[in-house]
Amino acid sequence: MQGFAMFSAVFLLCCQLCVSWSNARPSARNLGPMNNRPIIGILTQDVVDDEMKPFGKTYIPSSYVKYLESAGSRVMPIRLTHTPEEYEDIFKRINGLLLIGGASALETSDFSRVAQIFYRLALTANDAGDVFPIWGTCLGLQLLTYLVTGENLLTKTPAENMALPLNLTAEAHSSQMFRSFPREVMTALTHEPLTGNFHNYGVTEKTFMDNKELQSFFSILSTNVASNGAVFVSTMEGKKYPFYGVQWHPEVNRFMWNTKMSFPHSPNAVRVSSLLAEFFVNEGRRSWHSFSSPEEEAASLIYNYTPTYSANFTSYQQIYFF
Ligand SMILES: *[C@@H]1O[C@H](CO)[C@@H](O)[C@H](O)[C@H]1NC(C)=O
Ligand SMILES: *[C@@H]1O[C@H](CO)[C@@H](O)[C@H](O)[C@H]1NC(C)=O
Repeated sequence: MQGFAMFSAVFLLCCQLCVSWSNARPSARNLGPMNNRPIIGILTQDVVDDEMKPFGKTYIPSSYVKYLESAGSRVMPIRLTHTPEEYEDIFKRINGLLLIGGASALETSDFSRVAQIFYRLALTANDAGDVFPIWGTCLGLQLLTYLVTGENLLTKTPAENMALPLNLTAEAHSSQMFRSFPREVMTALTHEPLTGNFHNYGVTEKTFMDNKELQSFFSILSTNVASNGAVFVSTMEGKKYPFYGVQWHPEVNRFMWNTKMSFPHSPNAVRVSSLLAEFFVNEGRRSWHSFSSPEEEAASLIYNYTPTYSANFTSYQQIYFF
């Protein structure tokens, strides 16, 4: 805490000196032409609760779709039943991938198998200068650690239905994810419970620090303390690759309303959710993948599907079933 307070003071001071410069300057990542018609893919989830079974075998909660749409992206739902060649074709058409929360197994699920195909394609593409961002939320963050290391590193880190402030690391302030956040939002992030947590497992800070592959691939931007005292990684970003992970759920702040759940809805909570959605969609705007025709594009988008009202049998307001 002491270290952070000290760092924070230095940061604030520095910020006062350079505020006009930094406000006038677009983020380095946004220089140059951008693709202003991005399409982000979302893999469907394949572990379906009993109450959801009558509607379909896989699903995407509408909260994630709205989250991306709110920042100026369109969404392509991606089923788990295609061939590797078909995924390669999809990869060449979309501008990023969102790995959503859920209950799929890291080692054995179709969700994980398909995510791995996209992950490998994204590594190769990014290495060749063909930008392709990936974002993992909750299970998505856990899956990213599995994809990078080939190991299931999860241990009990329960934070079930808890809204928490983030313990930001020194790296957070210069990170891609947070660098464009206004100073007052950064302060709110560390003092107000703006991040909704709904998990039993996670990657502890110690596991992360003991793992050379994770350490060289990702920077930890924040940690939190679980209800059993374990310190878990709550936000991380790729050092080299545009890959991002949050153990918490930025989408719930604006798009989920169940009164039994700790969904943060304050003005600052809404800003955090908006800023991160805008950040990730801006990463997608750096990708120039595109569909081969307007007809093919139109047929692939989520607009072809109708979400089902689900607030009376799940904590989601609406769900797309496939
Ligand atoms: C932040 O870290 C400190 C020291 O490790 C800990 O005491 C505190 O509970 C943490 N705060 C949160 C919100 O996790
Ligand atoms: C939920 O609400 C919908 C629409 O009002 C209704 O058709 C459905 O039967 C309800 N489901 C449950 C499980 O109550």
